[in-house]
Amino acid sequence: MGNCPYFYSNFSTRVLQNGGQCGRLGGDMKFLITAGPTREALDPVRYLTNRSSGRMGYALAGAARHEGHEVILISGPTTLDVPAGVDFIPVESAQQMYDAVRDMVKYADAAILCAAVADYRPVAVQEQKIKKSGERLVIELEKTPDILGSMRDVFGFTGTLVGFAAETQNVEEYAQDKLRRKKCDMIVANDVSRHDIGFDSRENEVTLVYPDHVEYLEKDTKEHIALHIIEHATLIRHA
Ligand code: C5P
Repeated sequence: MGNCPYFYSNFSTRVLQNGGQCGRLGGDMKFLITAGPTREALDPVRYLTNRSSGRMGYALAGAARHEGHEVILISGPTTLDVPAGVDFIPVESAQQMYDAVRDMVKYADAAILCAAVADYRPVAVQEQKIKKSGERLVIELEKTPDILGSMRDVFGFTGTLVGFAAETQNVEEYAQDKLRRKKCDMIVANDVSRHDIGFDSRENEVTLVYPDHVEYLEKDTKEHIALHIIEHATLIRHA
């Protein structure tokens, strides 16, 4: 098992059956995974973004590969290494991520949309750098396209659909609502008001929200959480 970050003696029986090797385990699905933040340009040198490190999405891509699945990873800018064997599509803005997902979704059996997509973007991108002038600068924002919300009705995706919900309050309630509205099979919910997990952290503690029940996963590395999520997504497909 060496330094395999996905090795998890309490959980992945298939890893144990594989002699603890960090390697392909015969998965037969194609996963589309979005990860990282987006950047919404204000002018040629400035943008709006958020604190997403991309670690959860990259861990999901690594875990899916570890289980032997094929992976298309569509990611906003991060400092992370792309996991080996993953088809990688780098993007910057929410619109670019939307376009890439729309184009690639036909190849996927399961989609896990983990990216922290900006909800709003500047209405106008200034061609020249905005000059410092008055005491206040008002920037008008408009909604970005909702990628998760387009999966079923706009892109016609019929595979397993997993969304993320990063909330600071009423985490489960909001996740249930999102599950229904976006027609997901599962929502991975976490509380981003905590500093020890979630955004820009190596660990996470999440609740898996299904239409009829919830399941709590204890605080763990993002790699181990990712393995759970991939196995759950696989089970939904084969249910
Ligand atoms: O509604 P909220 O942004 O909290 O939903 C989070 C989920 O929706 C995540 O799975 C995220 O990747 C996805 N999302 C998206 N497109 C957006 C905004 C969020 O796919 N424009």
